[in-house]
Amino acid sequence: MKSFLLAALLPAFAWALDLRCHQFYIDVSVNATNHAYGVTGIDDDINAVSFALDLSRWSVLSQTGPAPPALPVAGTYRIHVQLCFNTNGVKKDTLQLLTHGLFADKQYWDIQEDPDKYSYVHAALNSGYSVLSHDRLGTGLSDKPDAYNVVQAPLQVEILRTITAMARDGTLQPCANQSSSWDGSLLPSKFARFKCIVHVGHSFGSFLTSGLIGTYPRVSSAAILTGFLPNKELGVYPLAGYGLDYAPQNNPAKYSDRSSGYTVFYHRYNATDPSGFTDALLQYGDSLKQPATVGEFLSTGAINLAFAPAFKGPLEFVVGEYDTLICDGDCKGTYSPEVLTAVYPNASSIDVLVQPGAGHALNFHQNATAGYEVSLKWLASHGL
Ligand SMILES: *[C@@H]1O[C@H](CO)[C@@H](O)[C@H](O)[C@H]1NC(C)=O
Ligand SMILES: *[C@@H]1O[C@H](CO)[C@@H](O)[C@H](O)[C@H]1NC(C)=O
Ligand SMILES: *[C@@H]1O[C@H](CO)[C@@H](O)[C@H](O)[C@H]1NC(C)=O
Ligand SMILES: *[C@@H]1O[C@H](CO)[C@@H](O)[C@H](O)[C@H]1NC(C)=O
Ligand SMILES: *[C@@H]1O[C@H](CO)[C@@H](O)[C@H](O)[C@H]1NC(C)=O
Repeated sequence: MKSFLLAALLPAFAWALDLRCHQFYIDVSVNATNHAYGVTGIDDDINAVSFALDLSRWSVLSQTGPAPPALPVAGTYRIHVQLCFNTNGVKKDTLQLLTHGLFADKQYWDIQEDPDKYSYVHAALNSGYSVLSHDRLGTGLSDKPDAYNVVQAPLQVEILRTITAMARDGTLQPCANQSSSWDGSLLPSKFARFKCIVHVGHSFGSFLTSGLIGTYPRVSSAAILTGFLPNKELGVYPLAGYGLDYAPQNNPAKYSDRSSGYTVFYHRYNATDPSGFTDALLQYGDSLKQPATVGEFLSTGAINLAFAPAFKGPLEFVVGEYDTLICDGDCKGTYSPEVLTAVYPNASSIDVLVQPGAGHALNFHQNATAGYEVSLKWLASHGL
C-alpha cells in the first residue's frame, strides 16, 4: 500500500525534486502596444468554433481594411519561473531561456514522464547550461488576465524582453516568501548575472522569440526556434482545423480560473507511427494542456514574426517532418535557404533540422532526445 502510494505521488513531486531547479514567482513590469480587435463573447464551445471559422475565412487574410486601433497596456504581472543550474555546469554562465507554445506551460520543457528520455531541461543541464523556463502570461501558475485585450503577442514579447533583461542584470530574484521550493537564499552571486543568453522557443513561443530578435536584435546570443519555420505552407492550415473548445466548458474543474476568451485543444497527429507519442505521453501531454487566448490568435501578425534584419547571431530551426500547424502536414520541400536568408539577412548562420517522423509537439516524441543532441551540439559549434 505504502509503495503504491509513493509510486502514485512520485510523478507529481518529481518536478519539484530536482535539486538543480528552483521555482519561484517574479514580478514583471512592462508596457506594450496591443490592439483593440473588437472581438468579445467567446464563452462557450459554439462561439469558440465560430471564432476559429471566422478567422480561417480566406478573405480575412486578403482584407486590406483599416488596422485595428492601438491599445497601450501597462502593468506588473506575476510570472512563475523555473531556474535550473548546476554548480559544476561547464556552461553555467550561459542561460537558455525557454518559451513554450500555445496549449502548454513550462512543463513542456521538463517532461517528468521518463525525464532522461523527454526532458529538454535535463538534456541542457547535463550539457552544463543554466536553464530558465517560465509560464507565459495566461498559463500555468502565472497571472491570467483578460483574454482579449491584455494577453496578446506584443505584451508577451515585452515580458520576454524584460525577463531577459532581469537575467542579464542579476535581478532575477524570487519575490520574498513565495516559493514552495525556494529555500529563501538568494542566487549565488556567480549565477546572478548570465553572460550569454540563448533563446529557445516552441511554436507560439518561437513566434515570440522571432518577434523579440526582430525588435530587439541585440538581446540574444543565439536562437533555437522549434515548431516554427518560415516556409510556403506557413499559415495555410486553418485555425478552424484545430477543433477549439472553450476552456471552462472543456474541463470545468481544471479551467475554472479562466474567463471568457480562453480556448483549448490537443491531439496527436498519428497514433501508429513508431516515432510518434506513446499512449503514456499522449495522456501526460493532455494533463499539461493549457488554454490559449483569443487575443493571442488575433495578434500574431502584430509582432515581427518573420523579419529580423538586424539579428546577427546564429539561428537554428527545428521542425517535425509532419508538422501540420507549420507546414500543413509535411515540411519536406516547403522551405528554402533563400527565403530564410531574406528574413534573417544578418544572422551569422541559419540551420534547419527536420526531425524525422515527428509532428508539431516535438518534445513528446520518442526520438526527442536525439533532436536535443543535435541542437546542443549546434550551440557548442557556435561557441556557446
Ligand atoms: C511604462 O510607462 C509609464 C508611462 O510612460 C512609465 O511611467 C513606466 O515607467 C513604464 N514602465 C516600464 C516598465 O517601462
Ligand atoms: C519571508 O522572507 C523573509 C526574508 O527572507 C524572512 O525573514 C521571513 O521570515 C519570511 N517570512 C515567512 C512567513 O516565511
Ligand atoms: C501513421 O503512421 C504509420 C506508420 O508510419 C503510417 O503507415 C500511416 O500511413 C500514418 N497515418 C497517417 C494518417 O499519416
Ligand atoms: C544587414 O547587413 C547588411 C550588410 O551586411 C547591412 O548593410 C544592413 O544594414 C544590415 N541590416 C541591419 C538592419 O542591420
Ligand atoms: C532521431 O533523430 C535524429 C536527429 O534528428 C535522426 O538523425 C534519426 O534519424 C532519428 N531516428 C529516427 C528513428 O527517426
